[in-house]
Amino acid sequence: MKYDWKGRVVLITGASSGIGRALASELGKRGARLGLTARRGEELLRLGDEIGRAGGEALALPADVRDPRAMEEVAERVRARWGRVDVLVANAGMSSTTAGTRLNAGEVGDVISVNVLGVVNSVAAVLPGMLERGAGHLVAISSLASYRGMPKSGAYSASKAAVSTLFESLRVDLRKSGIDVTTIHPGFIRTPLTAGRRKKLPFLLEPDDAACRIIRAIERRARTYAFPWQLASFVRVIRHLPGAVYDRLASNSNFRE
Ligand SMILES: NC(=O)c1ccc[n+]([C@@H]2O[C@H](COP(=O)([O-])OP(=O)(O)OC[C@H]3O[C@@H](n4cnc5c(N)ncnc54)[C@H](OP(=O)(O)O)[C@@H]3O)[C@@H](O)[C@H]2O)c1
Repeated sequence: MKYDWKGRVVLITGASSGIGRALASELGKRGARLGLTARRGEELLRLGDEIGRAGGEALALPADVRDPRAMEEVAERVRARWGRVDVLVANAGMSSTTAGTRLNAGEVGDVISVNVLGVVNSVAAVLPGMLERGAGHLVAISSLASYRGMPKSGAYSASKAAVSTLFESLRVDLRKSGIDVTTIHPGFIRTPLTAGRRKKLPFLLEPDDAACRIIRAIERRARTYAFPWQLASFVRVIRHLPGAVYDRLASNSNFRE
């Protein structure tokens, strides 16, 4: 069945900047009705206005993904306005350097609670409605960093690996439910999340380009989609390296700089 965005109700978490914002702008142009959530309400209102001026429909719903009740309210407000949530894009996330030599439980907990529990809260808020209707699409923005424990990124890699395996289990459990499940594994995208990096990031993409690629993967109802292909292929090789070889290579890399 062809994926038609016109009138489709899409809830995007982390819509206030970067990939989420670019996805919302692009889907607005294609006629989707958009629930936009993140903590910065003013950014969401500004984006909602932009989408409205371009002829789209958007609802700004400030909330923290770590709060399960708040995410239920967000989903409820989208349903109150448009009757349902057709597509969830669980995109909200954060990254931080978490060097193993200076492990800080609080910092790791922050990353896990936004990147993992935030996704869980977002899915839990929309899934009962999708199950009832026997239709819907769950999309998570994981990362190529989920493929292996990246240097000085234990929390981020672990959080994204958790998202990927969570979504794989959901895909298995929801088979035949009428709900599609897609996990996206982006490489480097130019957003505030990567802005602080001193090192040149390989195959860096612009958010608009990333958004269009993600939308195509959603339309194909892909189970997983990793991009850009050059970095995805490299990381797939890295994934299968023996531990001893990986440890030596990764510990000598300046991946986090
Ligand atoms: N950029 C990359 O290279 C890259 C690569 C692979 C995967 N990703 C993933 O792509 C997703 C989007 O990242 P991005 O690069 O677009 O970064 P970004 O521009 O920093 O956007 C992150 C978004 O998440 C929201 N967010 C953060 N904490 C939140 C919280 N507690 N509650 C609600 N919303 C929260 C932020 O909004 P507020 O601050 O307003 O809450 C913002 O809208 C993330 O999951 C990231 O891990 C990014």
